[in-house]
Amino acid sequence: MKLISRLLVVFILVVSVDARSQTTNTTKMNIFIDALMKKMTLEEKIGQLNLPGAGDIVTGQASSSDIAKKITEGKVGGLFNIKSVAKIKDVQKVAVEKSRLKIPLLFGMDVIHGYQTMFPIPLGLSCNWDMQAIEQSARIAATEASADGICWTFSPMVDIARDPRWGRISEGNGEDVYLGSQIAKAMVKGYQEGDLSKNNTIMACVKHYALYGAAEGGRDYNTTDMSRVRMFNEYLPPYKAAVDAGVGSVMASFNEVDGVPATANKWLQTDVLRKQWGFKGFVVTDYTGINEMVAHGIGDLQMVAARALMAGIDMDMVGEGFLTTLKKSLQEGKVTAAQIDAACRRILEAKYKLGLFDDPYKYCDEKRAATEIFTDANRKIARKIAAESFVLFKNQGNVLPLKKSGTIALIGPLADATENMTGTWSVAADFSKSVSVIRGLKEAVGNEAKILYAKGSNLTADAAYEERSTMFGKSLHRDARPATEILQEALAVANQSDVIVAALGEAAEMTGESSSRTDIGIPDVQKDLLKALLKTGKPVVLVLFTGRPLTLTWENENVPAILNVWFGGSEAGSAIADVLFGDVNPSGKLSTTFPQNVGQIPLYYNHKNTGRPLPEGQWFQKFRSNYLDVSNDPLYPFGYGLSYTNFTYGDLQLSNTSLKGNQTLSASITVTNSGTRDGKETVQLYIHDMVGSSTRPVKELKGFQKIELKAGEAKTVTFKITPEDLKFYNYDLKYDWEAGDFEIMIGGNSRDVKTVRVNWSK
Ligand code: BGC
Repeated sequence: MKLISRLLVVFILVVSVDARSQTTNTTKMNIFIDALMKKMTLEEKIGQLNLPGAGDIVTGQASSSDIAKKITEGKVGGLFNIKSVAKIKDVQKVAVEKSRLKIPLLFGMDVIHGYQTMFPIPLGLSCNWDMQAIEQSARIAATEASADGICWTFSPMVDIARDPRWGRISEGNGEDVYLGSQIAKAMVKGYQEGDLSKNNTIMACVKHYALYGAAEGGRDYNTTDMSRVRMFNEYLPPYKAAVDAGVGSVMASFNEVDGVPATANKWLQTDVLRKQWGFKGFVVTDYTGINEMVAHGIGDLQMVAARALMAGIDMDMVGEGFLTTLKKSLQEGKVTAAQIDAACRRILEAKYKLGLFDDPYKYCDEKRAATEIFTDANRKIARKIAAESFVLFKNQGNVLPLKKSGTIALIGPLADATENMTGTWSVAADFSKSVSVIRGLKEAVGNEAKILYAKGSNLTADAAYEERSTMFGKSLHRDARPATEILQEALAVANQSDVIVAALGEAAEMTGESSSRTDIGIPDVQKDLLKALLKTGKPVVLVLFTGRPLTLTWENENVPAILNVWFGGSEAGSAIADVLFGDVNPSGKLSTTFPQNVGQIPLYYNHKNTGRPLPEGQWFQKFRSNYLDVSNDPLYPFGYGLSYTNFTYGDLQLSNTSLKGNQTLSASITVTNSGTRDGKETVQLYIHDMVGSSTRPVKELKGFQKIELKAGEAKTVTFKITPEDLKFYNYDLKYDWEAGDFEIMIGGNSRDVKTVRVNWSK
């Protein structure tokens, strides 16, 4: 007892010393910024709110670049997408030596899923379900970016998306609000480590606030419209989770919310973000987000810039709407000096917290740039994380893992596609260093097996479509020969083999920004190729590249083995070899539903029941909520993913089935690895609130644990459930739980669960 109370005293002392030192830091910062702002002219304050793109700055020529004049005049707060210590140092020098007040610049970049050591695209990474691994990926990205001069990343992107037509579904964490919130936290922690003053952390920017993933029809930048109840329950929590984790900045989204573009939406940017959630950092627009509000139809540039500032936007990316109109708006009484001051202060605070006033060159250390980027150690971790993000959809007759012997025919437009391995948003990557599938497989087998290669088809029959899908240096080197000739060559190769590995799917830039599709199948010529390969009668493994859920009904029926590898990053080819040959047992689980066809979209596991639900196990009944031509089932449900071993779930055990108030419910299940290989399994907890004052989803993810089991081993997994897990936003937007019956479900995916009902009273 004595020891406990002593420990408690020590704990309280540590906490209060910490709180005191934080207060002192804030006071110091305020004194510094007050003094600085007293010296600033109106123009200089507005200048801090300006974030132009870097343009083409050549190393050693920064001071004569177009942007240098503006920096010298104090009209720039930061720059983005400028790369390398040498260039950043040059530009920073202009700011701190030539501008009147010597205010350092922020240097931002889209470090989305790695810097040079690239991790899987976010949608792929989210299928890893290992929060430590995800945090580690962000940590490595931050270390590498900061070693190369960058102090700010436009990540994490946490937009919930339920429409795979939308290309940017690849940049987020899928459809689920709980998983998305856990990942948001892990990413912010990885980038910032709770301490921006270090030289190897960078400031995160959660985006795109808000609801960008709900674009109508999956068409990019399109209108979004939803009830506030839906926003608060299903779309806003991941942004809030990032705020709770201390994210330094927020990016406003392009779309409108309730009829007002997010960039001018005061309710969103001030009432919710700052007043309700207590966000203390700064808000930046998305690329020309202010200017675009002219096309949205809410005013001319002066008007929309004023509206953005009044809504709570602090920094203007690229469009210079603030720079060119705010002074006039102030003179005309359309904005106030206090609003400009508040925005300027927030930018200066970010610079202060990053330690840029102490040392503007703190991220400009050539030695770090030479030794901390794309290291063997980082690449090794990226390889492991990538392999554990792949999702095994099917493995009929245990075609996989492959043996490292005999002859393997590697066929498909993605098989020798180095530039495409990192996927969309790989701004800092050196594509030439990525490991392609062919390289990965050859390195893995050495002299033990023969790997034969043929392209088999182009990406698409339509050359113009292929061109649109392979931008930013991500060419697939289109083969000009007739399709039949390319195919015949591949069949000749296939016929010499024992097994065929078909590397097919999307090109990297078929998802990402402005890459929406209406037909989300494997493109035409590739499907022809796949059919021809199956006709050879050899076993076929489909190694599927994609940045979105695809419609794979035919493939699921006809191809014996399907491994979804997303875009695995710089080490993709090695990670693919690791899984294909069984050195790594696949353990990825889907963070987004794969529909049977496009007409089912939006299709997501945590839907409502309707008044006319389809009875379980059926796929059509007249006057029920269903389709004439296809069942309501997904092809692959949320949470789904196979392994080379089998996991058997025992009965669900609950500590109690009748609970009251703040009691804790323990839900346990024993999972047995009943196969012959060691493996990892993500055990998922879902809850169904059976009766509510508002309708509730049929189930919601409320917890998960990724466990490792040796062949034959069994482990009991326990989840602790409290009323906190039962809370939701009701009709009045009050966040609370309601007494009643709940179904507790545990399983290996959202469909196959064990269920027990409990009653929970207040
Ligand atoms: C994207 C953002 C990105 C920004 C800067 C925009 O077009 O929507 O996600 O951070 O560009 O590159």
